[in-house]
Amino acid sequence: MSFKISDKITWVGKIDWELRSFHGEELSTHRGSSYNSYLIRDEKTVLIDTVWEPFAKEFVENLKKEIDLNEIDYIIANHNEIDHSGALPLLMKEIPDVPIYCTSNGVKIIKGHFHEDWNFVEVKTGDTLDIGESKLTFIEARMLHWPDSMFTYMSGENVLFSNDAFGQHYASDLMFNDLVDQAELYQEAIKYYANILAPFSPLVTRKIEEVLSLNLPVDMIATSHGVIWRENPSQIIEKYLEWSKGVEENQITIAYETMWNGTRRMAEAIADGIKSVDSDVTVKLFNTAHSDKNDVLTEIFKSKGVIIGSSTINKSILTSVSGMLDMLKGLGLKNKKAAAFGSYGWSGESVQIINERLKDAKFEVIGDGIKELWNPDEEALERCREFGKNFVGHLK
Ligand code: FEO
Repeated sequence: MSFKISDKITWVGKIDWELRSFHGEELSTHRGSSYNSYLIRDEKTVLIDTVWEPFAKEFVENLKKEIDLNEIDYIIANHNEIDHSGALPLLMKEIPDVPIYCTSNGVKIIKGHFHEDWNFVEVKTGDTLDIGESKLTFIEARMLHWPDSMFTYMSGENVLFSNDAFGQHYASDLMFNDLVDQAELYQEAIKYYANILAPFSPLVTRKIEEVLSLNLPVDMIATSHGVIWRENPSQIIEKYLEWSKGVEENQITIAYETMWNGTRRMAEAIADGIKSVDSDVTVKLFNTAHSDKNDVLTEIFKSKGVIIGSSTINKSILTSVSGMLDMLKGLGLKNKKAAAFGSYGWSGESVQIINERLKDAKFEVIGDGIKELWNPDEEALERCREFGKNFVGHLK
């Protein structure tokens, strides 16, 4: 499969309909993904990025149907995580002398993965490559999201090849933002941001402001995953600016794990208390043991308030909550108020542990939390409702 995205640019990537997890098992991909590779034909011929290694043979065979590989003058490797560089070894067997343009960190990463010494050309921000009517300009985007990441801008066609930035794990035969379901698109775009780019939010803000200051006309943003932004591409730039500064939707997410339903009943009573004083706020409850962790993290990313609960077990907390708190620490979210709750039978450490872990993850923790003995009775549930009301009061 290939298709033209403009007179000079052909998509030559791979749609991966089956993908259900990424980064090993760290990131769920309910809607699959795509590995977008682009072939530019001007006076010179340029290949931008490749695909994940399992699809390398298919990629090279398809590319041969599109072009004599010997006509490729340059390869641009915007980012060398193996979902984009995985087909390089097979491709370079066919065209071993073609120069690969990438950052200095890109060279290290390619060598680290494949242990090959190909014809690398190191580039940095502002370097250009004339390819005929068009010119390619390189813009380093260090830590968005790897040290080697960079964007390539194509003048004339006004296309920003942004690699992972602005991408989505979203398999679609439609391939353009104006053709797909907008709710699905934005769900995948924000999930991608929350789970992959959120740790680097200050850099995202700075990089976007830097790119905007260049005043480059951008008619398309050709990402390396999911659909291409061609209708009002600045919409996703504006969303990234908004997300990078910290999202505070009118939502409270309650995430918990429960052993014998005591903590679940507390969660529901807290939610009732919240709604009794603020009917406009959206409250979402997730049992973290049953829910997709990345979907829950995305909901927390959007929320202005987060309440985390766990039963006490063996003087500690339940494992899915512990994993969630680990991931929250890694994401480094901003402007989030939080609180803790949990039921217990005798020692009752869970609430204190959650509070400490939330503080360690840079959440603003409200109060000492609430713990209730065994299965909460009506008086205990009323205390939970009051706890919910009080939490909302701190969000105003
Ligand atoms: Fe899509 Fe960072 O690789």
